[in-house]
Amino acid sequence: MNIQKNNVDTSEGIYIFKDYCEVKGGKTLNGNLKISGAKNSALVLMAASILSKGQINLFNVPKIADVEKMSNLLISMGINIKLNRDKLEINTHRILQPSQNLFFDLYKGLRASFFCIGPILARFGIAEIPLPGGCCIGARPIDEHIDALKKLGVKFQFKENHLIAEAITPNRKLIGTSINFKCKSVGATETLIMAASLAEGKTILNNAAQEPEIIDLANMLNKMGGKIKGAGSECITIEGVEALKGCEYSVMPDRIEAGTFLIAAAITRSSISISPVEPKYLTEVINKLEQSGCHFEYANQSIKIIPNQILNSVNITTNPFPGFPTDLQAPFMALMTTASGVSKITETVFENRMHHVKELNRMGAKILLKDNIATVIGVKKLQGSSVIGFDLRATAALALAGLSANGKTIIQGLEHLERGYENFASKLTNIGADIINQKKKIELG
Ligand code: EPZ
Repeated sequence: MNIQKNNVDTSEGIYIFKDYCEVKGGKTLNGNLKISGAKNSALVLMAASILSKGQINLFNVPKIADVEKMSNLLISMGINIKLNRDKLEINTHRILQPSQNLFFDLYKGLRASFFCIGPILARFGIAEIPLPGGCCIGARPIDEHIDALKKLGVKFQFKENHLIAEAITPNRKLIGTSINFKCKSVGATETLIMAASLAEGKTILNNAAQEPEIIDLANMLNKMGGKIKGAGSECITIEGVEALKGCEYSVMPDRIEAGTFLIAAAITRSSISISPVEPKYLTEVINKLEQSGCHFEYANQSIKIIPNQILNSVNITTNPFPGFPTDLQAPFMALMTTASGVSKITETVFENRMHHVKELNRMGAKILLKDNIATVIGVKKLQGSSVIGFDLRATAALALAGLSANGKTIIQGLEHLERGYENFASKLTNIGADIINQKKKIELG
């Protein structure tokens, strides 16, 4: 695994590489599109491997930048990782003590690195880890993680930009208890499942998040010998065990990637099939697309979408699962800019996830934004333009808008796309889109 290269090439002079995506709109898509393993499952499963002294073999791990960063982080902890064709072999038999593995830049480069705190605490009783910090979609607090871990017997010391977490129990084992989350947090629910899996006694998580990636985590931990019940519901119980063994596990298909490409078909009024996909993990998204005028056919693990040429405007409000996923709010908004009528898009999960509004308006969309509610007045056609993607899903949304716009759209922010979608452009090209990733070297010096 290569540690991420920066993008300044000093071989001849000073250059920067402007990475961008170039989309020529107006193409109809056709064919089948393969869905990769879920980013938001693979990252937490990789962190969970720290809980076992055996070997974890993960299949269907997406080849994306965030997985590469998580791999580099685990390698920096002394963990042995080998990518053997489509199998990611993770052997944590040899792992450095927490205080020796503080590679700040590796943690800071990936918010999901905070998933390591639960497993490290469960295995060592002490963890030293940088604070994850916020990102452009919100402050991303970790109070739910901290408050719940304290209930398991963890004491925290906060240094300038990292924290030291220590189990203050006799043998540094976490002690199971009942926890009531104030808000539904995917990360906090996953952190507590991992921390409690090696604790003494039973832990009950109330008001737990219900996202499918949590079910994937529980399934893998149970294969390792864990005793977790109720994942996917609001109440999860974890019976702590002495040790967890190695196992083989295949990452679930990425429901957010699947939803993104269904919307790509809808916005270009194309009929495509996607697989593998679990329709029950996209119920709310499919409902909204049906209300807008898309029809669906289902076969084993695949979905075919057939959109009407004229789509209706539909209102959505994002919510924790099983509600409409916040990660598909931006792509769905792009679709609504070309629907007939007026739709209202309300973001309730993150406080700052509307950066794509200004950029879509630069493409001729008509969106009025007040607080976290966007009123989208459908237009006949978007116009290609030069736009900037500020986060992973916003950049995907702008690419989808470019697929349907007149002319060419240049989208800066390719690095966001490459963080979370495996082969985004080539998957779309394979079904008829005109989209390429460009890396332009611009001389500065
Ligand atoms: C996970 O982030 C996903 N990331 C996000 O996907 C996804 O948008 C989010 O869940 C919601 O589904 C990964 O799984 C790696 P949360 P997470 O904790 O766990 C508040 C993408 O694009 N909160 O469920 O960080 C928080 O402010 C990314 O793939 C607290 O108040 O999300 C937010 O309002 C983006 N205190 C809400 O909960 C806490 O301690 C949901 O956050 C934790 C969270």
